Amino acid sequence: MPMNLTLNAPDYVRHDGLKKWVADIAAKAKPANIVWCDGSQEEYDRLCAQMVQSGMLHKLNPAKRPNSFLARSSPDDVARVEDRTFICSKNKAEAGPTNNWIEPAEMRTKLDELFEGAMAGRTMYVIPFSMGPLGSPIAQIGVELSDSPYVVVNMRMMTRMGKKVYDVLGSTGEFVPCVHTVGAPLVAGQADVVWPCNTTKYIVHFPETREIWSYGSGYGGNALLGKKCFALRIASNMGRAEASATSPGWLAEHMLILGVTAPWGKKYHVAAAFPSACGKTNFAMLIPPKGLGQQGWKITTIGDDIAWIKPDAKGNLRAINPEAGYFGVAPGTNEQSNFNCMATLAQDTIFTNVALTDDGDVWWEGMSKVPPAHCIDWQGRDWTPEQAKEKGIKAAHPNARFTVSATQNPVLDPEWDNPEGVVIDAFIFGGRRSTTVPLVTEARDWSEGVYMAATMGSETTAAAVGEQGVVRRDPFAMLPFCGYNMAEYFQHWLSLGEHLQASGAKLPRIFCVNWFRTDADGKFVWPGFSENTRVLKWMLGRIEGEAKGNEHVFGITPSYEDLDWSGMDFSLEKFTTITSIDKAAWRKEFELHAELFEKLAHGLPPSLLEIKAGFESRLG
Ligand code: GTP
Ligand code: SPV
Ligand code: MN
Repeated sequence: MPMNLTLNAPDYVRHDGLKKWVADIAAKAKPANIVWCDGSQEEYDRLCAQMVQSGMLHKLNPAKRPNSFLARSSPDDVARVEDRTFICSKNKAEAGPTNNWIEPAEMRTKLDELFEGAMAGRTMYVIPFSMGPLGSPIAQIGVELSDSPYVVVNMRMMTRMGKKVYDVLGSTGEFVPCVHTVGAPLVAGQADVVWPCNTTKYIVHFPETREIWSYGSGYGGNALLGKKCFALRIASNMGRAEASATSPGWLAEHMLILGVTAPWGKKYHVAAAFPSACGKTNFAMLIPPKGLGQQGWKITTIGDDIAWIKPDAKGNLRAINPEAGYFGVAPGTNEQSNFNCMATLAQDTIFTNVALTDDGDVWWEGMSKVPPAHCIDWQGRDWTPEQAKEKGIKAAHPNARFTVSATQNPVLDPEWDNPEGVVIDAFIFGGRRSTTVPLVTEARDWSEGVYMAATMGSETTAAAVGEQGVVRRDPFAMLPFCGYNMAEYFQHWLSLGEHLQASGAKLPRIFCVNWFRTDADGKFVWPGFSENTRVLKWMLGRIEGEAKGNEHVFGITPSYEDLDWSGMDFSLEKFTTITSIDKAAWRKEFELHAELFEKLAHGLPPSLLEIKAGFESRLG
């Protein structure tokens, strides 16, 4: 520890290993002081007030948006950085060909260098959190050390954060150590920047020792380490490590979880994996369209981004949402597309990189049909609709986000924090594809479903730094989040299915969807959002053996008359546009599957190649 720095751990922290680790990191990063976060409202308010003082947060007009704030990030710290994200397993093969890998000792040397004095002049916060309900057998504990107060207040909404975690941890409990710095030491006498970060960024995972180290970014998935780093990259490793001859292990997935209650009173649970910025939050909160709402269909949210799924003693797959809040995409959200979300954001919300209106509220593209005549854009500059038209400048960054507690969601499912989780009836996988992939396909069985998920393609979005709108393979929507070899991850899914089937359990059905096919003008043909309930209704009908469909090359799809069109005017012609299967396009698609399989050849389950051959011969 630096000479004049004291650890000052509160009495309720009884874990010597934890205290030693905090002292070690402090000795290296040399913060000016250490604050042990208790997760209280008082602490949250104090940090927000401090950040308003420093300029990091802007307080919104309390009459319009009570207890809410706007943060503007540095323009080069706006999204996840996939090319700076590393899985440092002992062997390269363990990380697999889809992850960046650096030899662990080499990475540790690099981190030692980077973290040396990295927190100088700043406060280091000790942030204890639980992923999953506190004390639940499925939950896991983490402690994040961060020099960003923005991280603290976001973690308080996104996780179960605070003092109570130490009761669960006791004096010897296990936790995942997460170290984070914005990488911008403060020089005495020099003014701080509003959003400190570094052009050098490292998001590092050591799967064997279950550690996370993050350097240089203060944004979202790079900095809120409970989310993608822990709940997906580390947790996917945990789930597979628990697989043995007697247990199939468990799954950590990039999935929303929703409850859907049918007019006949039965409640189903669906988990859906769509890549980043491809519709999870919206699907999880949707309001059935009038026609179906009148019939009695109701949808409730369990989670909007991550699911941990474990088989119970009966072989049912049970899912929990390890998070406690939503870090959601703002652009495109409005009263029509997602009424529940707008209601959730009415107060107690932190917005990042949206625009500020002249009356002290927020705005983003797609929030209203008519934009405000003037606002301050996400970079703090004057913005007008005229200018936007001329120069194409967006008021909000396309990856602008809100952070909000799940408990503010008006359709929060009563089971959302049930430690036992909910039984999953169906899995849905969906990418953003302007061509080729039909509206909905049901897999004929588990392994064909795994094939469809494994070969899924999607156009890249603003959720990650890099080129946008390029189709890439994004298996299970997990390409940036699987913490080990993707080929082995496919095997883990297949083995889990085999294990459950052998024990006589009924496996969830698997469906693939695509809401994003476009017409000749590049416009979405399918209206999406609430209308997606019609597809959901068809899926549940399939599970009950009531809905019809046609078997074709790679699955079962509905005819026009198999979907319920009550209250909606959608022509057969349009339906054909979004459901047609173009053989030439699919032959090209299979070439892309082949490319993926070549890349993942080491450890690829042979059955996937057999399924591919079967599909191709049926395609002719
Ligand atoms: P992450 O938080 O990055 O994981 O994103 P997500 O998968 O939760 O995506 P989200 O629901 O936030 O939607 C991303 C964007 O897609 C938003 O701009 C939405 O308005 C838009 N979107 C969501 N659902 C639909 C849909 O059914 N149709 C169309 N056309 N757009 C949609
Ligand atoms: C995603 O990119 O899938 C997100 C946002 O949910 S982040 O927290 O930045 O990962
Ligand atoms: Mn996500």
